[in-house]
Amino acid sequence: MEPYSIKNPFPSTVVDVRPVTKPGSAKETIHVDYCLEGSGLSYVTGDALGVIPNNDPELVDALIAALGLSAADEVTLPDGSTATLRDALITTYDITNLKKGTLTKWNAVANSEKLAAILADKDALKDFIWGRDLLDLATDEEMKADFTDAAAFVGILGKMNARLYSIASSPDAVPGQVSLCVGAVRYTSNGRDRKGVCSTFMADRLKAGDKVKVFVHSNKNFRLPEDGATPIIMVGPGTGIAPFRAFWQQRVADNATGPMWLFFGNPYKATDGCYEEEISPLVESGKLKLSVAWSRDQAYKIYVQNLMEEAGEEIWQWLEQGAAFYMCGDANRMAKDVEKALLAIISKYGNRSEEEAAAYLADMKAAKRYQKDVY
Ligand SMILES: Cc1cc2nc3c(=O)[nH]c(=O)nc-3n(C[C@H](O)[C@H](O)[C@H](O)COP(=O)(O)OP(=O)(O)OC[C@H]3O[C@@H](n4cnc5c(N)ncnc54)[C@H](O)[C@@H]3O)c2cc1C
Ligand SMILES: NC(=O)c1ccc[n+]([C@@H]2O[C@H](COP(=O)([O-])OP(=O)(O)OC[C@H]3O[C@@H](n4cnc5c(N)ncnc54)[C@H](OP(=O)(O)O)[C@@H]3O)[C@@H](O)[C@H]2O)c1
Repeated sequence: MEPYSIKNPFPSTVVDVRPVTKPGSAKETIHVDYCLEGSGLSYVTGDALGVIPNNDPELVDALIAALGLSAADEVTLPDGSTATLRDALITTYDITNLKKGTLTKWNAVANSEKLAAILADKDALKDFIWGRDLLDLATDEEMKADFTDAAAFVGILGKMNARLYSIASSPDAVPGQVSLCVGAVRYTSNGRDRKGVCSTFMADRLKAGDKVKVFVHSNKNFRLPEDGATPIIMVGPGTGIAPFRAFWQQRVADNATGPMWLFFGNPYKATDGCYEEEISPLVESGKLKLSVAWSRDQAYKIYVQNLMEEAGEEIWQWLEQGAAFYMCGDANRMAKDVEKALLAIISKYGNRSEEEAAAYLADMKAAKRYQKDVY
């Protein structure tokens, strides 16, 4: 039998889905355990899991109604099998990410001057795509398209994309399973409440026993040091904590002696703690040093990099003792700010110029002592 992979994902059984943050959290976060038994799949601590979601049935129903198509009409799927239009849109096709190709095919049917003008202007297209989906086109008088039948509509669609998630478990701590820590993406755009496809598929609709297609995505650039005695500094605000749960589980499973330091951050202490029941015993036993930035518990923001600055001298000592530095989470802002803070620490406590600090960090990177898993 062909091994399971991105091209042939494994239908994994959901073992458990549970909230991580408390009700009312501004960063609604869930934990999911998937079963890998019988798959032949294995992973290394630091890897990611690809998940192939289903679309929200409510969005699919609204889209079919807006297009005036029949949900029960049969269509042929890319693998040659057949399904009703409704099932095909739920399981197989991308109806939320507006791509130029799909929009161009849509407009071959819609003949919309407005859409043609947007398609001809790169910046306008980028603006239009952000926060919109196919239902926006189907409900726009100037853009709606009259497809002859379900097959004609499905013919313009691309396939559902997988989403990657940093694995939040160690294979040695929970053999046969793989865990994720997922932030639910919800926002309002163009007058409608929207849901991220994969994160809310897991947060709103998954339950134990369900089958979900998954695959392992290797991440060779995010690995614990080979020597378990090496100190590690982990910076992971929000869902950035995910791979670090895997790291601390791995170090405990290995009986590794290397000190660990976790910088975590989220808005409010009352609602947004993550894995506190696992972290507390590690802190109490002296295995893990913890620094938490509750960003909104005071009148001004406190972020992980502020705590790093305060602890700069000690971070520098850890680095000089050979510590590896890891960061995970938001690529747009956090990763840049944390790197800046790290460079400032190297410069200040290592008595180095800006260029020398950059060279120090480059050396750490070359020695695999500076690794990022940012998205
Ligand atoms: C290597 C890697 C590891 C990752 N690890 C994790 C992890 O451990 N945990 C985790 O939660 N996520 C993780 N992610 C992110 C994850 O892959 C998904 O991108 C995330 O869950 C959102 O997917 P979705 O299907 O829910 O949202 P989608 O349906 O893909 O929607 C996201 C899109 O919605 C649009 N959008 C979002 N917000 C707004 C807004 N305010 N206004 C307008 N439009 C908006 C944007 O176009 C955005 O690209 C990781 C990503 C990578 C690449
Ligand atoms: N590529 C994708 O499709 C995708 C999908 C989902 C998430 N993401 C990214 O992943 C990130 C993680 O999401 P999340 O909701 O778990 O957490 P998050 O938004 O990163 O928030 C976690 C904590 O970090 C704080 N923070 C905000 N800006 C910061 C900065 N510049 N430096 C350091 N800390 C900062 C937040 O504070 P405040 O909120 O109080 O400011 C909060 O306390 C998101 O920010 C998003 O950019 C990407």
